[in-house]
Amino acid sequence: MRVAILGGGFVGVATALFYADGGHRVTLVEPNPVRADLLASGRAPFREPGVDARLRRDVERLRLHVDRRLPLDVSFQAYVICVGTPAGPRGLDLRAVRLASTQVGRHLHHHAGRPLVFLKSTVPPGTLEEEVVPRIERASGRRADVGFHAVSNPEFLREGAALRDTFRPDRVVVGARKPSTRRRAARHFQRLRCPIVETDPRTAEFVKYAANAFLALKISYANEMARLASAVGVDVYEVMHAVGLDPRIGTQFLRAGAGFGGSCFPKDVRGLAALARRMRRPSRLAEAVLAINDSQGNYVLDLAERAVGGLEGRRVALLGLSFKPDTDDVRETRALPLYRGLRERGARVTVWDPVATANFQALVGEKIRAAPSLREAVRGADLALIQTEWRQIRSLRAADLKRWMRRAIVVDGRRTLDPEALERAGVAYFGVGWRREPRRRA
Ligand code: UDX
Repeated sequence: MRVAILGGGFVGVATALFYADGGHRVTLVEPNPVRADLLASGRAPFREPGVDARLRRDVERLRLHVDRRLPLDVSFQAYVICVGTPAGPRGLDLRAVRLASTQVGRHLHHHAGRPLVFLKSTVPPGTLEEEVVPRIERASGRRADVGFHAVSNPEFLREGAALRDTFRPDRVVVGARKPSTRRRAARHFQRLRCPIVETDPRTAEFVKYAANAFLALKISYANEMARLASAVGVDVYEVMHAVGLDPRIGTQFLRAGAGFGGSCFPKDVRGLAALARRMRRPSRLAEAVLAINDSQGNYVLDLAERAVGGLEGRRVALLGLSFKPDTDDVRETRALPLYRGLRERGARVTVWDPVATANFQALVGEKIRAAPSLREAVRGADLALIQTEWRQIRSLRAADLKRWMRRAIVVDGRRTLDPEALERAGVAYFGVGWRREPRRRA
């Protein structure tokens, strides 16, 4: 088949590689010239393990062609809309989805065939029917389910695992009005040997929100239990390990920490909460998941304040700026509320991250002090505050911290280090959900 992918973000690129791997001829449409040029040279404009190698191979073998717009002289049997749906001031910003829909419609105007049009972007339930289909009909002059077939096909990709989640997904969900369209769409994923759920578009769109909301719920549950665990003198990680061994619960996504960040969980849970309010069925669970996450930053800052006996004038090393390891993505990173809180409480902050510093500086108005190395970041510091569980931080040795820091105090926002090893070396260790909390300030 000839497949057109609209959007060169990490969903679009992963999807393009999936179809190219299936032997199809793929056109990846990325309107941003800088990103398009990078992609055309076989390099992704973001960090994602394994992507560049595949991208270069598929571009060189002419299986993947990058363009700034849909090539008029090519007919496609499938279009896949993978454009971004960022959070806007009044909820989700669907402008890119609307534009892509119109572009597909206009392109269809010049071509025959009855292609599938997949919507992969995360959108509120109802978007395919109410926003995408009408725009394609208007711009193409065709009728849905006759001149083209629209399918909701939400993605479940994790940053840092985009290829794994694309080539070995736990399940695929396809939502379309007609069963024949569902079956036709499902055939695209047959070789993946995983469950393929065939349903209607609205249900498919809802699945994505409900899945992310549940994963975020697990994290906020672990974070709330962490506060209680520390108060009663137990280690929440030991608790959650035993809790998670029940297959009905599962051990994943129960890691208490500084809270969830990223371009999905915060946006999707806010989107679900907003949808529930619009439907006059407010979701107290979604609201609580967000409230716990928002307050987790202050909980970590209070730990830090008590650990170091007041933050005014203290030198704090903030270690890890990306929203999670192995990415330079700082969207909704919890490092931002921590950085701002430290500054508001009068601390002098030096930050360190292996790759995300420039992106983080763009988020923060004032000039940040960034250390060139972990050692320089903690040298002379009164406190090391960990926000991302980078492997370089994991390999910090207790003796080094003791030697380099002015006061060897660690607040571990991601439970990255071994508490006992640090305590044995005389480092004061406090972590989210650790069994010991700093004494309340006098
Ligand atoms: C998530 C979902 O996992 C993915 O299925 C969906 O398609 C998009 O959103 P992503 O945002 O890339 O993926 O990252 P993820 O690995 O899920 O982590 C999200 C945030 O949760 C990170 O800030 C991470 O630090 C935090 N997290 C994750 C926890 O605090 N505790 C955990 O146990 C797991």
